[in-house]
Amino acid sequence: MIEYDKDAIVPPYITEYLRAKTVHGNEFLHELEEFAEKNSVPIVEPETARFLSVMTRITRPVRILEVGCAIGYSAILMSEGLGKNGKITTLEYNAEMAQLARANIKRAGLSDTIEVVEADAKEYLSYIDEDEAFDMIFLDGPKAHYIYMLDECARLLRSGGILIADNVLYKGMTADDNHVIRRKITIVKRLRRFIDELMARKDFETSLLPLGDGVTLSVKK
Ligand SMILES: C[S@@+](CC[C@H](N)C(=O)[O-])C[C@H]1O[C@@H](n2cnc3c(N)ncnc32)[C@H](O)[C@@H]1O
Repeated sequence: MIEYDKDAIVPPYITEYLRAKTVHGNEFLHELEEFAEKNSVPIVEPETARFLSVMTRITRPVRILEVGCAIGYSAILMSEGLGKNGKITTLEYNAEMAQLARANIKRAGLSDTIEVVEADAKEYLSYIDEDEAFDMIFLDGPKAHYIYMLDECARLLRSGGILIADNVLYKGMTADDNHVIRRKITIVKRLRRFIDELMARKDFETSLLPLGDGVTLSVKK
């Protein structure tokens, strides 16, 4: 067992280069990045943020479902790529985070576009009774629950819809036992099951990317 290795996926010099090149001019998102850094709120890594931004702009989804809202950073980012009259539903079970997210979304003038639902994601997904309702689902909530949300994601995504899951390589721990730290073993085991199941599913085509902390990009057939 070795110490938690934040550079396990991408060598530091590559990350440094990518981050130097990964710039954006959205002042409000910069402000949220600074807030997240200062207050140790986990938000998507800069490379993953750019990827999300490009994916939404390519696919122009009309309905996005996000699991794991935190302060609303990635929801606000994805809203820039929404199709006409597009909407985002983002789930967050921490009341304080949900409140911060709503305030940020309001300041961004997006209260009619992004709805923050304060709920446990796994439970909430099963309450949504519209099949094939979403064009895109972004999983960025509890990593140990991805495996339990996969069937619901398949049900809720339309054919041709996109599923993106973040942190699936989990600082390399998912890929290699030597990187696993003991207190993370349950999450790691479940992430491995998530990846195995997702890759084996006949209703998804999936690419596993060493981007940021590891990302799966899947399209529902
Ligand atoms: C990595 S953060 C999300 C970051 C956000 N997507 C971004 O990049 O701006 C994960 C969030 O998921 C929330 N969360 C954890 N377990 C959850 C659950 N069971 N249901 C809903 N949200 C959950 C946490 O409170 C946390 O705010």
